[in-house]
Amino acid sequence: MRDTRLIVALDTQDPETAKGWAEAVGASAGAVKLGLEFAYAAGMEEIASIAAQYPVFLDLKLHDIPNTVAGAIRSLARIRPVLLTIHASGGRSMIAAARKALDEAFPADARPVLLAVTVLTSLDEAELQEMGISDSVEDQVLRLARMALDAGADGLVCSAHELAALRQAFGDKPVLVTPGIRPAGTIAGDQKRIMTPSQAREAGADWIVVGRPITEALDPSTAAAAIVAELKA
Ligand code: C5P
Repeated sequence: MRDTRLIVALDTQDPETAKGWAEAVGASAGAVKLGLEFAYAAGMEEIASIAAQYPVFLDLKLHDIPNTVAGAIRSLARIRPVLLTIHASGGRSMIAAARKALDEAFPADARPVLLAVTVLTSLDEAELQEMGISDSVEDQVLRLARMALDAGADGLVCSAHELAALRQAFGDKPVLVTPGIRPAGTIAGDQKRIMTPSQAREAGADWIVVGRPITEALDPSTAAAAIVAELKA
């Protein structure tokens, strides 16, 4: 069975809150996720300070012309995230430029895993159609995934319900990272199509991303440890 690891999403604007959560889950989580909310509120220095202590999944979903994305990645070299996201819809040359910049700006043994986001799970077929995409969501996910992996991405961020199809299409090698995970008995909140940690592991996730079931728990440390115990069971 796959060795599926836990990423804890630190969705806050406040550096002290983020650091408190990181400390609480540090023993269980393989990484903590910081995204746009934290970056814009707290700034990159706070991200660098957390990344100096904990492995950081930097979820900035970069999407711009290749030269600009490459420059952004060079600017992130001092932060040393372990995982980094870009939008697959930026296209082949943007993804290839991102990969090249990572290879050049980071030491080989500390290069972040490059993850592509395919179709945002907030989009449905009606919204895709409005943007000129007449394929089903699943076909579009597979198309963008194929291009991204071919252009140099190491893996994908995907919904739990896309895991099986992606494993079938691309095999074991791509790193698959999956949010929308809820341990049995916790509140789904705004997540609609959820899976439990063990279901996601069985479906082929390398990493699961869990936020509020841990950060809103009375004891985040225990909540994170329980999820890791489920993943190892
Ligand atoms: O609190 P919760 O476990 O729902 O947090 C999940 C994290 O994963 C959040 O940071 C959210 O932005 C992110 N995410 C998601 N669904 C996606 C992509 C990212 O929930 N499709």
